[in-house]
Amino acid sequence: MCTLLPGPVEIGGVRLKNHLLLAAGILGSTGASLARILRSGAGGVVTKSIGPRPMEGHPGPCLVVVDGGVVNAMGLPNPSADFINELTAVRGEPVVVSVFGGAPEEFASVAEWFRDVAAGFELNLSCPHAEGYGASLGSDPDLVEECTRAVRSLGVPTWVKLTPNVTDIATIGAAAERGGADAIVAINTVKAMRISTSLRRPVLGNRFGGLSGSAIFPIAVRCVYDLYEACSIPIIGCGGVSSADNVLEMMMAGASAVEIGSAVLADIGIFGRIAGELYASDGADAREIVGCAHG
Ligand code: SIN
Repeated sequence: MCTLLPGPVEIGGVRLKNHLLLAAGILGSTGASLARILRSGAGGVVTKSIGPRPMEGHPGPCLVVVDGGVVNAMGLPNPSADFINELTAVRGEPVVVSVFGGAPEEFASVAEWFRDVAAGFELNLSCPHAEGYGASLGSDPDLVEECTRAVRSLGVPTWVKLTPNVTDIATIGAAAERGGADAIVAINTVKAMRISTSLRRPVLGNRFGGLSGSAIFPIAVRCVYDLYEACSIPIIGCGGVSSADNVLEMMMAGASAVEIGSAVLADIGIFGRIAGELYASDGADAREIVGCAHG
């Protein structure tokens, strides 16, 4: 396995301590947990998605562990504008605030609350199980372009997190790029469900949800590869990453940085562990690795 040179990097307008970020939705609801993940070796963190009004989320069960991952249907629970109080603990750190809304104007209103404290925004245009939000908008290239433009007009680096649950993810990535996105994040969870054979009913309260974890890693690699061919802005790979070798594979597909989510549930120290294996003073310049599998 090759190694990379350590040190800070700027990806999609955000200065990160290294190439590894905490993905949205995992330990991103409090300033204390975000600070803990940064201390443990992450180069940056993405918060839980914040929306235009407080939401309790879907009825439980909201999560089921499956072979190679987790299926969740949290339903975007969030405290809305009050989340600003959590960010005091991580002021000045590379914290990307994940935002969602039901229309371009709602995305912009939510982002406006965090304009002075966010290192960047990640637009959740990809949650697969929240009617009227996430992938409901994120499957439509015109809406993706409009939402991106509305938030980017605030002057803060704007990343767009894409859904894999579309026929052609590259079309959606290109729409984000047209809207002025500084980076694309690929991918959010893959639509999935389990049924309890004893209860003869869906396991999740919402019936279906989104699959994350190592089971979706090959899907994420393929999406990053396709986006790299179609887009010129940086891509941040996300989906099932759990090792330094996975990080390199994502980078070879075209990712300039990588988000880690579900693997944190099994190993809270995963950022330090991966960074310990990934970086060496005689390592390669990441620019030699990003996209090297193409051509
Ligand atoms: C959720 O809170 O429902 C998960 C968010 C997502 O899948 O984007």
